[in-house]
Amino acid sequence: PRSIFLTRHGQSEYNAMGRLGGDSPLTEEGQKYASALGEFFEEEQVPNLRVWCSQKVRAAQTASHLKPEMQTEYWKALDELDAGICEGLTYDDIQQRYPKQADDRATDKYHYRYPSGESYEDVVCRLEPVIMELERQANVLVVSHQAVLRCVLAYFYDRPLSELPFIDIPLHSLVKLTPRAYHCDSTIYAFDL
Ligand code: G3H
Repeated sequence: PRSIFLTRHGQSEYNAMGRLGGDSPLTEEGQKYASALGEFFEEEQVPNLRVWCSQKVRAAQTASHLKPEMQTEYWKALDELDAGICEGLTYDDIQQRYPKQADDRATDKYHYRYPSGESYEDVVCRLEPVIMELERQANVLVVSHQAVLRCVLAYFYDRPLSELPFIDIPLHSLVKLTPRAYHCDSTIYAFDL
């Protein structure tokens, strides 16, 4: 059976500061995860593994320790949900500067669209070609972001859209999905760095 591996990028400088989005590089912890991920796939020897990575610096750095023979493709469609005017802010900043936005988001997180940015619904839409391609491919590793991976997981786990924005995907963990006829098996590897 073939497998789909999903991971967020390693911890970024913005993650460490509690800031949303942006395009910051990995912290030292994040770098450790990137090298641990490289070692994991070195040992695992997954045949013909393809790597699909977002176009953000933190994702590319996370994929950088994988062997060069694993061809890496950089998909803009795998970039993190665009928080628009809230990019670079913390959740406290948003609460203070845009309380109405924070309320609207709390009311309907799936449909809420950040001004000049995206909603989860928008991300589901732009992921459609990626998911169709994932269905056709053999072994793939996706290196992306929490909001995007929530959308991918909700699809493979067949979870309702209302629950999708709340699926927890911790940093420095790797999800292995093995699609079966009517469900998907999954294994989570938590890395101890
Ligand atoms: O890591 C942050 C997520 O990408 C977005 O989180 O949609 O729960 O605010 P949120």
